[in-house]
Amino acid sequence: MDYELLGRQVSELVAGEPSHLANAANFAAFVFHEIPDISWAGFYYPDESGDLVLGPFQGNPACTRLPKGRGVCGAAFSTRETVVVDDVSAYTDHIVCDVAARSEIVVPLLVDNFAYGVFDVDSASVARFASTDRHGIERLVRAFCSSVRPLSVPQSS
Ligand code: SME
Repeated sequence: MDYELLGRQVSELVAGEPSHLANAANFAAFVFHEIPDISWAGFYYPDESGDLVLGPFQGNPACTRLPKGRGVCGAAFSTRETVVVDDVSAYTDHIVCDVAARSEIVVPLLVDNFAYGVFDVDSASVARFASTDRHGIERLVRAFCSSVRPLSVPQSS
């Protein structure tokens, strides 16, 4: 995978469009179609309570709301660190949205070290996300976050 090329394409894809939601929808579609062996790709954003609520995505319908701090997404959001899970059945706090998903990566959306959401990618293959994929997908999310106006989200208390 040429993640450097994909990163440049992400920057071009979102250039000039101020709507976060429009860019997020295109970003999810781009990742879903460009990266092989992906079953789901999409965003979750916190609401006032700190729950993570479903945003633009590609793939099967998913859980609309993840309780605050829970799941792989909650872990990535609260630590502001990428979480890679090679086998979701071995991750005790994994929240099942799609029984076909076997491995997962969740990357926080960061601006000035503040997390305003997460980008979640699932695969039907175990251990789909090697360290090259982790760094590559982080690169794509960085390209997205540095070019896109953040979605305004409520501050959690
Ligand atoms: N598995 C995630 C929930 C979101 S779905 O995979 C789309 C989690 O444990 O946070």
